[in-house]
Amino acid sequence: MSEKNPAKRAYVETYGCQMNVSDGELMEGILAAQGYEIVRSPEHADVVLVNTCAIREHAESRVLGRVAQLNGLKRERPEMVIGVTGCMAQRMGDDLLERAPYVDLVVGPDGYRSLPSALGRIAKVEEPRRRNQLTVLDLDPVENYQGLEQRRADGPMAWVPIQRGCDHRCTFCIVPYVRGPEKNREPGEVLAEVRGLAEQGVTEVTLLGQTVNSYRHGDTAFPELLRSVARVDGIRRVRFTSPHPIDVTPALVEVMAEEAAVCEHLHLPAQSGSNRTLKRMLRRYSVEELLDKVDLVRDAIPDIALSTDIIVAFPGETDDEYRETLALMRTVRFDDAYTYKYSLREGTPATRLPAEDFISSEEAQERLEGLIDLSRSIQSEINHSEVGRVEEVLIEKDGRHSGQVLGRTRRNKVVVFDGDSARIGDYAHVALDRTTGATFAGSEAVDAMTVAGA
Ligand code: 5AD
Repeated sequence: MSEKNPAKRAYVETYGCQMNVSDGELMEGILAAQGYEIVRSPEHADVVLVNTCAIREHAESRVLGRVAQLNGLKRERPEMVIGVTGCMAQRMGDDLLERAPYVDLVVGPDGYRSLPSALGRIAKVEEPRRRNQLTVLDLDPVENYQGLEQRRADGPMAWVPIQRGCDHRCTFCIVPYVRGPEKNREPGEVLAEVRGLAEQGVTEVTLLGQTVNSYRHGDTAFPELLRSVARVDGIRRVRFTSPHPIDVTPALVEVMAEEAAVCEHLHLPAQSGSNRTLKRMLRRYSVEELLDKVDLVRDAIPDIALSTDIIVAFPGETDDEYRETLALMRTVRFDDAYTYKYSLREGTPATRLPAEDFISSEEAQERLEGLIDLSRSIQSEINHSEVGRVEEVLIEKDGRHSGQVLGRTRRNKVVVFDGDSARIGDYAHVALDRTTGATFAGSEAVDAMTVAGA
């Protein structure tokens, strides 16, 4: 390099949920503000941050494999710094440094402000072998990263975190222990951010929080915030994730029905169709109450698409209780379902259930496959019944085949149709011609207006 002080190159690789993707953008923003050049691959990076998820064991084993692989690069370039950030970093802490001794830095979800100083301290030690490993693992009851710029990819869509942490104690879930208690951002700041995004050409925002609809700051509860965001000039679509069913209230549903920008899609994580299991999961609703929520939403927004999360083989789940979950799926007919086998997470209340309650992985796998078969067949029936509709699609990116683009309807259905990259960010009216069962192939409706995005 000819420059005297070439910018250090940083690469952030993110695993896990949308909140993590958003945190990855935050880390990139923090590093870019300190003069780092953000790069898209680890090969030539000086700093590699693996931004991790702890929700299930599988997520963590993938990351351990990945950091071992990155250590291959580090053997060639010992000065390279490997950091592990996010929920798994918080959960494993020092254990991670023992398991993966080539990791230099471990930073939990509340420690990102100190990334540059931590990296600076590591870089001061010129001889990589003499470096000390560093951890930043304090949870901070107020940190919400106000005042820091996220570095977002160009494009029509943006994630907007409005809440961090979680006050629920669902007995299977690690999140409250790795992300701490719920913290909500000041509504004025959220709105200012959304206005800024709209000015840059963003037309779709997704509000993010662990239980996003339990958001409250002073007198502003989630429905009010949602309404204000939906009314920002230039914003044509608003989504939010992940809501908790207990906070799907008449007030929220009213805003969803009234505000044109709020998309006709609701994620409603049911987790189980058995009241006994729901109780033991500490979900704080019954199947009947959940069905009431579904009715409430469908009465107000008849065409709404619903998606869900389901866990099978929670410790103690009987065959009959599993079948109650299948029955719930048949009753509600979700448009989409994210399905999981229970994964034991150290430190969560469910680990203290009696040993004989734990279900063998073969049995869990069987239940999972049964649930997947059912939810896919329901999805396929619903989607086949939607062939022929013309829907507004926001074009998000190129499709897998050249000459095709991929977008999403307001109801969150993926549609592929002919078009080129120049159309990314446009809204188009697209006829849904065919479906694989999960996604659609369409064609841009002739005569229907094609409205350019901002
Ligand atoms: N095992 C399996 N699935 C889990 N989820 C959360 N914790 C666990 C666990 N220990 C699922 C829930 C949640 C989704 C994000 O991940 O369904 O809604």
